[in-house]
Amino acid sequence: MSFSDSPTLETLLARRLNRRRLLGGGVGLAALGVVARAAYPQTGEANLSFPRVQPSKADAVIVPDGYRADVAIRWGDALFADSPAFDAAAIAQGALLRADAVAAQTRQFGYNCDGIGLFALDTDRQLLCANHEFPLPALMFPGWVEARDARALGAFVRERPTVVQYMQASVGLSVVELAHGSKWAHVPSSRYSRRITAHTPMEITGPARGHALLNPRNERTPLALGTLGNCAAGTTPWRTYVTAEENVDDYFGNGAAAKLDAATELVHRRFGLRQRDSAFRWEYADPRFDVAVNPAELCKFGWIVELDPFDPTSRPKKRTALGRFKHEGATTVLAADGRAVVYMGDDQQFEYFYKFVTRDRFDAARPDANRDLLDAGTLYVARFDDDGSGMWLPLVHGEHGELTPERGFASQAEVVLRCRDAADRLGATPLDRPEDVAVHPSTGHVYFSCTQNVARDQGETAVAGRTLDTRTDRASPRAPNAAGHIMELIERGADAAATAFRWEIFLLAGAPNGQQLVAALPAEHLGSLAANVTYFGGATDVGELSAFANPDNLGFDNDGNLWIVTDGDQPDNNNDGCFACPTQGPERGHVRQFMSGPLGAEVSGCQFTADGSTLFLTLQHPGEAGSATRPQSHWPDGGDAAPRPSVIAIEPEARGRKFGT
Ligand code: FEO
Ligand code: CA
Ligand code: CA
Repeated sequence: MSFSDSPTLETLLARRLNRRRLLGGGVGLAALGVVARAAYPQTGEANLSFPRVQPSKADAVIVPDGYRADVAIRWGDALFADSPAFDAAAIAQGALLRADAVAAQTRQFGYNCDGIGLFALDTDRQLLCANHEFPLPALMFPGWVEARDARALGAFVRERPTVVQYMQASVGLSVVELAHGSKWAHVPSSRYSRRITAHTPMEITGPARGHALLNPRNERTPLALGTLGNCAAGTTPWRTYVTAEENVDDYFGNGAAAKLDAATELVHRRFGLRQRDSAFRWEYADPRFDVAVNPAELCKFGWIVELDPFDPTSRPKKRTALGRFKHEGATTVLAADGRAVVYMGDDQQFEYFYKFVTRDRFDAARPDANRDLLDAGTLYVARFDDDGSGMWLPLVHGEHGELTPERGFASQAEVVLRCRDAADRLGATPLDRPEDVAVHPSTGHVYFSCTQNVARDQGETAVAGRTLDTRTDRASPRAPNAAGHIMELIERGADAAATAFRWEIFLLAGAPNGQQLVAALPAEHLGSLAANVTYFGGATDVGELSAFANPDNLGFDNDGNLWIVTDGDQPDNNNDGCFACPTQGPERGHVRQFMSGPLGAEVSGCQFTADGSTLFLTLQHPGEAGSATRPQSHWPDGGDAAPRPSVIAIEPEARGRKFGT
């Protein structure tokens, strides 16, 4: 059966029945071979009633009437009493080409904020940790775009090595204190203020700590310098920040000239290695990023990094027990017995979904006992079966016949270093770019974005160091999958540490219309769905649903409503935005647009304060397609100013009014 050609029975049914009748219509749907949604218990999810925002192409942040959006901190804002002032208007004149810009950036909020974590200090003060995923030299340095077009970026960088130093200072993390006076604003020179850059020393911990690729001189305390590609993030019950290193291979170049030994080659093959130039050309000014000079440096990136934001002198830790891949998200919950469970996506086409279960239990009474919980435990990768069941496959050295010395894995260190390779051997299910994860606060159901995969169903394809069958399956049913979808995973016994689960697709994103919006998905995999088929958790009232595509970061409010932010091509070329919907009850899947972002900006972040009063979003790369001298966005400063990635705080204008109403 294919949904590609004509309206299906489900679609026709959906047109005739309103969704509340459909929810009660399980018998009829079952007779058609379609699984009807079992009635979920009501969990008090707020009936989201904010007035829907219309999609927009404006260079502005748009929120519903009755809400305010304030810029809490921007790229370049001062974190310390001695932070030099940042002049966005001077970027076009080359202010960031000057050598003194580098030291200034190490004292200012970094670029391209993505994932964030919030820690309440008291009712009106929050500690904010923010990722700075990657630099955009085209928007920072006059001449970059011209040199790129002339294929002369190598020479541009060699002549101006401080551009690399500037970019290295602009990435990493920031820790910032925010305070609510009349609105949320950052506190310059807070005692918590911290910048972490591409040079900040970090300790390598866990099973790969002693591996020759990470610790060639057998140091007592093996170090890595900096954290890169920090995408989504999370917080732990023991009040630390966990940040995900994603596209770290973008930072390293010259792979083709490198003489790699067999072990290093094996690690790079499945992870990815740029044969020629890196994305940012750092290798032209800093040999650490030249793979021909330092073949194994890249192995120090691609990990989950844990940071104690309350101690600005603490050394961040790269937790190798959680595996090395293009990490996206690290969402931590407690299992029934008190062990911590971290859910993680690997954001590349046909990669996998993982979780890590700690060996020891979280102990709220003994903070010291929790400090290194993430160093010991079991890493699992998910297999999604077509009957809606799933298994967590343990990536444990020696426990599976494939993960043994005879099969090329000498130790657990090699399992975590070559995590994708190990997951291949266990039969994990390749997905459509799994990104951020959020866990429902009362049901424990796990939601994760599969942002898109246009290569789905292109036949046997070589991707990321292996050749695979790219056919659709029930977990990735659309081909091509340009708009992405959101998965729902229900652990057995509602226990996050379980080794089996049930799953289904929660949303197939896109522009819903009466022709292609389906009320239910087939119970078995019956072939590919066309690219324009959409499914909104069973919701069928087309006029009430907001179109969206490329879900990326996710968050929950305290009532169990899912908040979704997007990164990619939206329907009708509208700007990226923020969307919300209940996950249960009669309003399940009723997606409404809450916010529209500025021109060229991906919307990210997506975290509520613990009291539910404020939603923090980040606006990454506004004006992405422009240049330093021809900005395409002037958000947030307006006028002729250069665009500045920023963190915004959204709250009801009437303080105390329930968020979402
Ligand atoms: Fe950094 Fe997968 O987005
Ligand atoms: Ca992301
Ligand atoms: Ca993204």
